Amino acid sequence: MPEHELNRRAFLCCGAAGLAAASSMSTTGPALARSVSTSKTLAVNGGDPVRTSPFPSWPQITGNEEQQLIDVLRSGKWFRGGANRATQFEGVLAKTFGTNFALATASGTTALLTALAACDVQAGDEVLVSSYSFIASSSVIFQMNALPIFIDSDPDTFLLDPELIEEKITDRTRAIIPVHHGGYPCDMDRIMAVARKHDLKVIEDACQAHLAQFRGKNVGTFGDIGCLSFQVSKNLPSGEGGACLGDDEQLLDYCRWYHDIGTDRKQNKGYYIDYPGTNFRITEWQAAVLLEQIKGLEDRAVHRQKNVDYLCEMLADIEGFAPARFVDGGNRGAFYNLHARIHPEKFKGLGRDAFIRALGAEGIPCWGSWPRPLNREACVEVSLQSRGFRRLFPADYLDQYPAAQHCPVSEEICNSMVVISQTCLLGTRTDMEQIAEAVRKIYDAADTIA
Ligand SMILES: Cc1ncc(COP(=O)(O)O)c(C=O)c1O
Repeated sequence: MPEHELNRRAFLCCGAAGLAAASSMSTTGPALARSVSTSKTLAVNGGDPVRTSPFPSWPQITGNEEQQLIDVLRSGKWFRGGANRATQFEGVLAKTFGTNFALATASGTTALLTALAACDVQAGDEVLVSSYSFIASSSVIFQMNALPIFIDSDPDTFLLDPELIEEKITDRTRAIIPVHHGGYPCDMDRIMAVARKHDLKVIEDACQAHLAQFRGKNVGTFGDIGCLSFQVSKNLPSGEGGACLGDDEQLLDYCRWYHDIGTDRKQNKGYYIDYPGTNFRITEWQAAVLLEQIKGLEDRAVHRQKNVDYLCEMLADIEGFAPARFVDGGNRGAFYNLHARIHPEKFKGLGRDAFIRALGAEGIPCWGSWPRPLNREACVEVSLQSRGFRRLFPADYLDQYPAAQHCPVSEEICNSMVVISQTCLLGTRTDMEQIAEAVRKIYDAADTIA
Protein backbone atom coordinates (compact mmCIF):
# COMPACT_ATOMS: atom_id res chain seq x y z
CA MET A 1 0.00 0.00 0.00
CA PRO A 2 1.45 3.45 -0.89
CA GLU A 3 2.60 5.40 2.15
CA HIS A 4 0.19 8.31 1.57
CA GLU A 5 -2.74 5.87 1.53
CA LEU A 6 -1.53 4.28 4.73
CA ASN A 7 -1.33 7.67 6.42
CA ARG A 8 -4.80 8.59 5.18
CA ARG A 9 -6.33 5.51 6.81
CA ALA A 10 -4.44 6.08 10.03
CA PHE A 11 -5.76 9.64 10.08
CA LEU A 12 -9.35 8.61 9.44
CA CYS A 13 -9.21 6.03 12.18
CA CYS A 14 -7.49 7.98 14.86
CA GLY A 15 -8.04 11.68 14.27
CA ALA A 16 -5.56 14.50 13.92
CA ALA A 17 -3.20 13.06 16.48
CA GLY A 18 -3.15 9.93 14.35
CA LEU A 19 -1.76 11.83 11.39
CA ALA A 20 1.07 13.26 13.45
CA ALA A 21 1.86 9.84 14.81
CA ALA A 22 1.54 8.22 11.41
CA SER A 23 3.93 10.63 9.75
CA SER A 24 6.52 10.14 12.46
CA MET A 25 6.18 6.36 12.59
CA SER A 26 5.25 5.30 9.07
CA THR A 27 8.64 3.87 8.20
CA THR A 28 9.25 1.96 11.41
CA GLY A 29 5.83 0.96 12.78
CA PRO A 30 4.43 -1.52 10.24
CA ALA A 31 7.87 -2.88 9.47
CA LEU A 32 8.40 -3.58 13.14
CA ALA A 33 4.97 -5.14 13.47
CA ARG A 34 5.74 -7.54 10.62
CA SER A 35 9.15 -8.47 11.90
CA VAL A 36 8.23 -9.67 15.39
CA SER A 37 6.28 -12.67 14.12
CA THR A 38 7.50 -15.90 15.74
CA SER A 39 5.19 -18.79 14.94
CA LYS A 40 3.02 -18.71 11.84
CA THR A 41 0.66 -21.38 13.18
CA LEU A 42 -2.21 -19.63 14.87
CA ALA A 43 -2.58 -20.25 18.61
CA VAL A 44 -6.19 -21.21 17.97
CA ASN A 45 -4.78 -24.06 15.82
CA GLY A 46 -2.21 -25.14 18.42
CA GLY A 47 0.65 -22.72 17.62
CA ASP A 48 2.46 -20.47 20.08
CA PRO A 49 0.52 -17.36 21.09
CA VAL A 50 1.99 -13.96 20.25
CA ARG A 51 1.63 -12.95 23.88
CA THR A 52 1.62 -14.80 27.17
CA SER A 53 1.91 -11.98 29.73
CA PRO A 54 -1.12 -10.09 31.06
CA PHE A 55 -1.96 -6.48 30.18
CA PRO A 56 -2.11 -3.81 32.92
CA SER A 57 -4.72 -4.67 35.55
CA TRP A 58 -7.64 -2.39 36.45
CA PRO A 59 -8.44 -0.53 38.63
CA GLN A 60 -5.04 0.76 39.63
CA ILE A 61 -4.09 2.36 42.92
CA THR A 62 -2.38 5.44 41.55
CA GLY A 63 -1.83 7.57 44.65
CA ASN A 64 -2.85 7.95 48.22
CA GLU A 65 -6.22 6.16 48.02
CA GLU A 66 -5.55 3.92 51.01
CA GLN A 67 -4.74 6.74 53.42
CA GLN A 68 -7.64 8.84 52.12
CA LEU A 69 -10.07 6.00 52.84
CA ILE A 70 -8.68 5.51 56.34
CA ASP A 71 -9.03 9.24 56.95
CA VAL A 72 -12.70 9.11 55.93
CA LEU A 73 -13.20 6.07 58.16
CA ARG A 74 -11.68 7.71 61.21
CA SER A 75 -13.35 11.08 60.64
CA GLY A 76 -16.80 9.52 61.04
CA LYS A 77 -17.91 11.75 58.15
CA TRP A 78 -19.03 9.07 55.73
CA PHE A 79 -21.97 11.08 54.35
CA ARG A 80 -21.31 14.19 52.24
CA GLY A 81 -23.37 16.46 54.50
CA GLY A 82 -21.00 18.24 56.86
CA ALA A 83 -17.95 16.78 55.10
CA ASN A 84 -15.84 18.18 52.28
CA ARG A 85 -14.44 15.50 49.98
CA ALA A 86 -17.44 15.27 47.63
CA THR A 87 -17.56 19.06 47.31
CA GLN A 88 -13.83 19.23 46.79
CA PHE A 89 -14.01 16.55 44.11
CA GLU A 90 -16.80 18.45 42.31
CA GLY A 91 -14.53 21.50 42.16
CA VAL A 92 -11.63 19.50 40.70
CA LEU A 93 -13.95 17.74 38.25
CA ALA A 94 -15.47 20.98 36.94
CA LYS A 95 -12.00 22.49 36.50
CA THR A 96 -10.63 19.37 34.79
CA PHE A 97 -13.51 19.20 32.30
CA GLY A 98 -13.93 22.96 31.88
CA THR A 99 -17.47 23.58 33.12
CA ASN A 100 -18.76 26.05 35.67
CA PHE A 101 -20.42 23.34 37.75
CA ALA A 102 -20.20 19.64 38.55
CA LEU A 103 -22.44 17.52 40.73
CA ALA A 104 -21.22 14.09 41.84
CA THR A 105 -23.86 11.34 41.97
CA ALA A 106 -24.11 7.71 43.04
CA SER A 107 -23.61 6.36 39.48
CA GLY A 108 -23.70 7.24 35.81
CA THR A 109 -27.28 5.96 35.61
CA THR A 110 -28.41 8.26 38.43
CA ALA A 111 -26.54 11.16 36.77
CA LEU A 112 -28.58 10.56 33.60
CA LEU A 113 -31.83 10.33 35.59
CA THR A 114 -30.96 13.55 37.41
CA ALA A 115 -30.21 15.28 34.10
CA LEU A 116 -33.50 14.12 32.58
CA ALA A 117 -35.40 15.45 35.60
CA ALA A 118 -33.54 18.77 35.46
CA CYS A 119 -34.33 19.05 31.74
CA ASP A 120 -38.00 18.59 32.64
CA VAL A 121 -38.46 15.33 30.76
CA GLN A 122 -41.91 14.17 31.84
CA ALA A 123 -44.20 11.19 31.43
CA GLY A 124 -45.39 10.99 27.83
CA ASP A 125 -42.39 12.83 26.34
CA GLU A 126 -40.00 11.40 23.76
CA VAL A 127 -36.22 11.49 24.02
CA LEU A 128 -33.94 10.79 21.06
CA VAL A 129 -31.01 8.52 21.89
CA SER A 130 -28.16 6.59 20.25
CA SER A 131 -29.24 3.04 19.45
CA TYR A 132 -25.82 1.43 19.87
CA SER A 133 -24.89 1.80 23.54
CA PHE A 134 -25.09 0.30 27.01
CA ILE A 135 -28.61 -0.25 28.29
CA ALA A 136 -28.53 2.65 30.80
CA SER A 137 -28.57 5.21 27.94
CA SER A 138 -32.16 4.26 27.16
CA SER A 139 -33.46 2.57 30.33
CA VAL A 140 -33.31 5.93 32.11
CA ILE A 141 -35.79 7.33 29.58
CA PHE A 142 -38.27 4.54 30.28
CA GLN A 143 -37.77 5.15 33.99
CA MET A 144 -38.99 8.72 33.48
CA ASN A 145 -42.08 7.22 31.82
CA ALA A 146 -40.95 8.74 28.55
CA LEU A 147 -40.28 6.94 25.25
CA PRO A 148 -36.81 6.57 23.78
CA ILE A 149 -36.67 7.16 20.04
CA PHE A 150 -33.61 5.37 18.71
CA ILE A 151 -31.26 6.94 16.18
CA ASP A 152 -29.34 4.63 13.88
CA SER A 153 -25.54 4.71 13.76
CA ASP A 154 -22.99 5.80 11.21
CA PRO A 155 -21.35 2.65 9.76
CA ASP A 156 -17.83 4.05 10.11
CA THR A 157 -17.87 6.04 13.37
CA PHE A 158 -20.31 3.59 15.08
CA LEU A 159 -21.88 6.66 16.74
CA LEU A 160 -25.32 8.20 16.34
CA ASP A 161 -25.72 9.52 12.77
CA PRO A 162 -26.59 13.24 13.13
CA GLU A 163 -28.19 13.19 9.68
CA LEU A 164 -31.02 11.03 11.05
CA ILE A 165 -31.98 13.16 14.06
CA GLU A 166 -34.29 15.73 12.49
CA GLU A 167 -36.69 13.26 10.86
CA LYS A 168 -37.36 11.68 14.27
CA ILE A 169 -38.45 14.89 16.01
CA THR A 170 -42.15 15.16 16.90
CA ASP A 171 -44.15 17.50 19.09
CA ARG A 172 -43.48 15.12 21.98
CA THR A 173 -39.67 15.34 21.65
CA ARG A 174 -38.05 17.02 24.60
CA ALA A 175 -34.34 16.08 24.55
CA ILE A 176 -31.49 14.26 22.79
CA ILE A 177 -29.02 11.91 24.45
CA PRO A 178 -25.99 11.48 22.19
CA VAL A 179 -23.68 8.77 23.54
CA HIS A 180 -19.93 9.24 23.12
CA HIS A 181 -19.76 5.50 22.97
CA GLY A 182 -16.47 3.76 23.70
CA GLY A 183 -15.01 7.19 24.43
CA TYR A 184 -15.26 8.38 20.80
CA PRO A 185 -16.56 11.95 20.49
CA CYS A 186 -19.85 12.52 18.66
CA ASP A 187 -20.19 15.35 16.15
CA MET A 188 -21.35 17.97 18.65
CA ASP A 189 -21.55 20.77 16.04
CA ARG A 190 -24.28 18.98 14.12
CA ILE A 191 -26.07 17.66 17.19
CA MET A 192 -26.17 21.05 18.91
CA ALA A 193 -27.32 22.78 15.69
CA VAL A 194 -30.37 20.55 15.27
CA ALA A 195 -31.14 20.67 19.00
CA ARG A 196 -31.07 24.46 19.11
CA LYS A 197 -33.17 24.70 15.93
CA HIS A 198 -35.91 22.60 17.56
CA ASP A 199 -35.45 23.90 21.11
CA LEU A 200 -34.43 20.51 22.49
CA LYS A 201 -32.28 19.87 25.55
CA VAL A 202 -29.04 17.95 25.02
CA ILE A 203 -27.84 15.50 27.67
CA GLU A 204 -24.49 14.06 26.67
CA ASP A 205 -23.88 10.51 27.79
CA ALA A 206 -20.13 10.79 28.33
CA CYS A 207 -20.13 7.86 30.77
CA GLN A 208 -17.42 6.15 28.70
CA ALA A 209 -15.71 9.30 27.46
CA HIS A 210 -13.68 11.05 30.16
CA LEU A 211 -11.59 13.75 28.46
CA ALA A 212 -12.44 12.75 24.91
CA GLN A 213 -12.40 15.92 22.86
CA PHE A 214 -14.30 17.48 19.99
CA ARG A 215 -12.60 20.54 18.47
CA GLY A 216 -10.29 20.68 21.49
CA LYS A 217 -13.12 20.80 24.04
CA ASN A 218 -13.98 17.96 26.39
CA VAL A 219 -17.14 16.05 25.58
CA GLY A 220 -19.82 16.34 28.24
CA THR A 221 -19.40 20.14 28.12
CA PHE A 222 -21.31 20.93 24.89
CA GLY A 223 -24.87 20.12 25.81
CA ASP A 224 -27.08 21.38 28.62
CA ILE A 225 -25.79 18.63 30.92
CA GLY A 226 -23.04 16.05 30.48
CA CYS A 227 -23.08 12.79 32.41
CA LEU A 228 -20.12 10.70 33.57
CA SER A 229 -19.78 7.27 35.16
CA PHE A 230 -17.14 6.27 37.69
CA GLN A 231 -18.13 2.59 37.73
CA VAL A 232 -15.05 0.45 38.28
CA SER A 233 -14.30 -0.37 34.64
CA LYS A 234 -14.40 3.29 33.61
CA ASN A 235 -11.35 5.45 32.89
CA LEU A 236 -11.98 7.33 36.15
CA PRO A 237 -13.16 4.68 38.63
CA SER A 238 -14.44 4.60 42.21
CA GLY A 239 -16.36 1.32 42.18
CA GLU A 240 -19.63 3.12 41.53
CA GLY A 241 -20.19 6.83 41.00
CA GLY A 242 -21.17 9.43 38.46
CA ALA A 243 -21.54 13.13 37.78
CA CYS A 244 -23.51 15.82 36.00
CA LEU A 245 -21.51 18.61 34.35
CA GLY A 246 -22.77 21.94 33.08
CA ASP A 247 -22.49 25.72 32.85
CA ASP A 248 -26.08 26.69 33.62
CA GLU A 249 -26.34 27.41 37.34
CA GLN A 250 -30.10 27.05 37.49
CA LEU A 251 -30.03 23.68 35.75
CA LEU A 252 -27.22 22.36 37.93
CA ASP A 253 -29.00 23.68 41.03
CA TYR A 254 -32.04 21.70 39.99
CA CYS A 255 -29.81 18.63 39.60
CA ARG A 256 -28.49 19.20 43.12
CA TRP A 257 -31.97 19.49 44.65
CA TYR A 258 -33.34 16.55 42.70
CA HIS A 259 -30.48 14.21 43.61
CA ASP A 260 -30.73 15.24 47.29
CA ILE A 261 -34.39 14.53 48.26
CA GLY A 262 -35.65 17.73 46.63
CA THR A 263 -34.20 20.08 49.20
CA ASP A 264 -31.96 23.09 48.76
CA ARG A 265 -29.39 22.68 51.49
CA LYS A 266 -27.70 25.97 50.57
CA GLN A 267 -30.70 27.82 52.00
CA ASN A 268 -30.17 26.14 55.34
CA LYS A 269 -33.82 26.47 56.28
CA GLY A 270 -34.35 22.97 57.70
CA TYR A 271 -36.54 20.16 56.54
CA TYR A 272 -38.48 21.73 53.67
CA ILE A 273 -38.89 19.66 50.50
CA ASP A 274 -39.56 22.20 47.80
CA TYR A 275 -39.00 20.03 44.73
CA PRO A 276 -39.58 16.46 43.59
CA GLY A 277 -36.44 14.53 44.42
CA THR A 278 -34.72 11.34 45.39
CA ASN A 279 -31.45 10.17 46.92
CA PHE A 280 -28.69 9.80 44.33
CA ARG A 281 -25.91 11.18 46.55
CA ILE A 282 -22.29 10.10 46.27
CA THR A 283 -20.48 9.05 49.45
CA GLU A 284 -17.30 10.43 50.92
CA TRP A 285 -15.65 7.05 50.24
CA GLN A 286 -16.14 7.42 46.53
CA ALA A 287 -15.02 11.04 46.57
CA ALA A 288 -11.86 10.12 48.50
CA VAL A 289 -10.86 7.60 45.83
CA LEU A 290 -11.83 9.91 42.96
CA LEU A 291 -9.73 12.78 44.29
CA GLU A 292 -6.70 10.53 43.88
CA GLN A 293 -7.71 8.83 40.64
CA ILE A 294 -8.43 12.06 38.80
CA LYS A 295 -4.82 13.18 39.16
CA GLY A 296 -3.66 10.79 36.42
CA LEU A 297 -6.71 11.13 34.15
CA GLU A 298 -5.18 13.50 31.57
CA ASP A 299 -1.89 11.58 31.33
CA ARG A 300 -3.73 8.32 30.85
CA ALA A 301 -5.90 9.88 28.12
CA VAL A 302 -2.82 11.12 26.26
CA HIS A 303 -1.13 7.75 26.65
CA ARG A 304 -4.10 5.82 25.25
CA GLN A 305 -4.44 8.17 22.28
CA LYS A 306 -0.76 7.73 21.39
CA ASN A 307 -1.05 3.97 21.65
CA VAL A 308 -4.22 3.88 19.53
CA ASP A 309 -2.56 6.09 16.89
CA TYR A 310 0.39 3.73 16.78
CA LEU A 311 -1.76 0.62 16.66
CA CYS A 312 -4.05 1.96 13.92
CA GLU A 313 -1.05 3.03 11.88
CA MET A 314 0.49 -0.43 12.11
CA LEU A 315 -2.76 -2.04 10.98
CA ALA A 316 -3.72 0.54 8.37
CA ASP A 317 -3.22 -1.81 5.43
CA ILE A 318 -5.51 -4.54 6.82
CA GLU A 319 -8.81 -3.21 5.54
CA GLY A 320 -10.87 -6.03 7.00
CA PHE A 321 -9.99 -4.73 10.49
CA ALA A 322 -11.62 -1.30 10.47
CA PRO A 323 -11.18 0.83 13.61
CA ALA A 324 -13.82 3.47 14.30
CA ARG A 325 -13.35 6.59 12.19
CA PHE A 326 -13.26 9.83 14.13
CA VAL A 327 -15.96 12.38 13.25
CA ASP A 328 -14.67 15.55 11.62
CA GLY A 329 -13.52 17.71 14.52
CA GLY A 330 -13.07 14.78 16.88
CA ASN A 331 -9.51 15.19 18.04
CA ARG A 332 -9.13 12.89 21.03
CA GLY A 333 -10.72 9.64 22.11
CA ALA A 334 -10.99 8.47 25.69
CA PHE A 335 -10.82 4.87 24.39
CA TYR A 336 -12.77 3.23 27.15
CA ASN A 337 -12.57 0.63 24.42
CA LEU A 338 -10.93 0.51 21.05
CA HIS A 339 -13.76 -0.15 18.60
CA ALA A 340 -13.15 -1.91 15.30
CA ARG A 341 -15.34 -3.77 12.83
CA ILE A 342 -14.35 -7.00 11.13
CA HIS A 343 -15.39 -7.03 7.47
CA PRO A 344 -15.18 -10.70 6.43
CA GLU A 345 -15.17 -9.88 2.70
CA LYS A 346 -11.90 -7.99 3.26
CA PHE A 347 -10.56 -10.44 5.83
CA LYS A 348 -10.34 -13.53 3.63
CA GLY A 349 -13.86 -14.50 4.65
CA LEU A 350 -13.13 -14.70 8.38
CA GLY A 351 -16.13 -13.80 10.55
CA ARG A 352 -16.11 -11.63 13.65
CA ASP A 353 -16.67 -14.46 16.16
CA ALA A 354 -13.85 -16.55 14.69
CA PHE A 355 -11.60 -13.48 14.77
CA ILE A 356 -12.36 -12.93 18.46
CA ARG A 357 -11.56 -16.56 19.25
CA ALA A 358 -8.30 -16.35 17.34
CA LEU A 359 -7.20 -13.02 18.86
CA GLY A 360 -8.01 -14.24 22.37
CA ALA A 361 -5.95 -17.36 21.75
CA GLU A 362 -3.01 -15.16 20.71
CA GLY A 363 -3.14 -13.60 24.19
CA ILE A 364 -5.03 -10.39 23.31
CA PRO A 365 -8.25 -10.07 25.35
CA CYS A 366 -11.13 -8.85 23.19
CA TRP A 367 -14.86 -9.33 22.87
CA GLY A 368 -17.84 -8.42 20.76
CA SER A 369 -19.57 -5.55 22.56
CA TRP A 370 -23.39 -5.43 22.65
CA PRO A 371 -25.24 -8.35 21.07
CA ARG A 372 -28.13 -6.23 19.81
CA PRO A 373 -29.12 -2.54 19.57
CA LEU A 374 -30.96 -0.97 22.49
CA ASN A 375 -34.29 -0.93 20.69
CA ARG A 376 -34.32 -4.74 20.54
CA GLU A 377 -33.79 -5.50 24.22
CA ALA A 378 -36.74 -7.44 25.65
CA CYS A 379 -37.31 -4.80 28.35
CA VAL A 380 -38.61 -2.40 25.68
CA GLU A 381 -41.66 -4.58 25.04
CA VAL A 382 -42.34 -4.83 28.79
CA SER A 383 -42.61 -1.03 29.02
CA LEU A 384 -44.70 -0.81 25.84
CA GLN A 385 -47.20 -3.30 27.22
CA SER A 386 -47.35 -1.72 30.66
CA ARG A 387 -50.57 -0.20 32.00
CA GLY A 388 -48.85 3.16 32.46
CA PHE A 389 -47.52 3.42 28.92
CA ARG A 390 -50.88 2.32 27.50
CA ARG A 391 -52.43 5.27 29.37
CA LEU A 392 -49.75 7.73 28.25
CA PHE A 393 -49.51 6.93 24.53
CA PRO A 394 -52.15 6.05 21.88
CA ALA A 395 -52.40 2.26 21.37
CA ASP A 396 -51.74 2.39 17.60
CA TYR A 397 -48.67 4.51 18.21
CA LEU A 398 -47.25 1.97 20.67
CA ASP A 399 -48.14 -0.90 18.34
CA GLN A 400 -46.17 0.53 15.41
CA TYR A 401 -43.31 1.68 17.68
CA PRO A 402 -41.04 -1.43 17.51
CA ALA A 403 -40.97 -1.45 13.68
CA ALA A 404 -40.34 2.30 13.60
CA GLN A 405 -37.27 1.88 15.80
CA HIS A 406 -35.45 -0.53 13.44
CA CYS A 407 -31.79 0.52 13.21
CA PRO A 408 -30.17 -1.55 10.43
CA VAL A 409 -26.69 -0.05 10.75
CA SER A 410 -26.56 -0.61 14.51
CA GLU A 411 -27.62 -4.21 13.84
CA GLU A 412 -24.66 -4.62 11.47
CA ILE A 413 -22.31 -3.02 13.96
CA CYS A 414 -23.44 -5.39 16.71
CA ASN A 415 -22.64 -8.34 14.44
CA SER A 416 -19.21 -7.12 13.34
CA MET A 417 -17.75 -5.21 16.30
CA VAL A 418 -14.57 -6.16 18.13
CA VAL A 419 -13.65 -4.36 21.32
CA ILE A 420 -10.25 -4.08 23.00
CA SER A 421 -10.32 -2.67 26.51
CA GLN A 422 -8.76 0.58 27.70
CA THR A 423 -6.53 -1.41 30.05
CA CYS A 424 -4.70 -2.95 27.05
CA LEU A 425 -4.34 0.55 25.61
CA LEU A 426 -2.55 1.64 28.78
CA GLY A 427 0.28 -0.73 27.88
CA THR A 428 3.63 0.00 26.25
CA ARG A 429 4.47 0.50 22.57
CA THR A 430 5.71 -3.09 22.58
CA ASP A 431 2.27 -4.18 23.81
CA MET A 432 0.71 -2.34 20.83
CA GLU A 433 3.18 -4.06 18.49
CA GLN A 434 2.06 -7.41 19.88
CA ILE A 435 -1.60 -6.57 19.32
CA ALA A 436 -0.81 -5.54 15.74
CA GLU A 437 1.33 -8.63 15.28
CA ALA A 438 -1.52 -10.87 16.46
CA VAL A 439 -4.06 -9.25 14.10
CA ARG A 440 -1.64 -9.53 11.18
CA LYS A 441 -0.86 -13.15 12.03
CA ILE A 442 -4.59 -13.95 12.00
CA TYR A 443 -5.04 -12.13 8.70
CA ASP A 444 -2.15 -13.98 7.08
CA ALA A 445 -3.47 -17.38 8.20
CA ALA A 446 -7.21 -16.61 8.15
CA ASP A 447 -7.88 -19.47 5.72
CA THR A 448 -6.54 -22.00 8.28
CA ILE A 449 -9.27 -21.21 10.85
CA ALA A 450 -12.04 -23.79 10.91
C1 LIG B 1 -22.69 4.58 27.84
C2 LIG B 1 -23.06 4.37 29.28
N1 LIG B 1 -24.04 5.12 29.81
C3 LIG B 1 -24.40 4.99 31.09
C4 LIG B 1 -23.78 4.10 31.92
C5 LIG B 1 -24.24 3.94 33.34
O1 LIG B 1 -23.24 4.19 34.26
P1 LIG B 1 -23.25 3.44 35.68
O2 LIG B 1 -22.89 2.02 35.46
O3 LIG B 1 -22.22 4.19 36.46
O4 LIG B 1 -24.59 3.60 36.25
C6 LIG B 1 -22.74 3.31 31.42
C7 LIG B 1 -22.05 2.33 32.28
O5 LIG B 1 -21.42 1.40 31.84
C8 LIG B 1 -22.38 3.44 30.07
O6 LIG B 1 -21.42 2.69 29.53
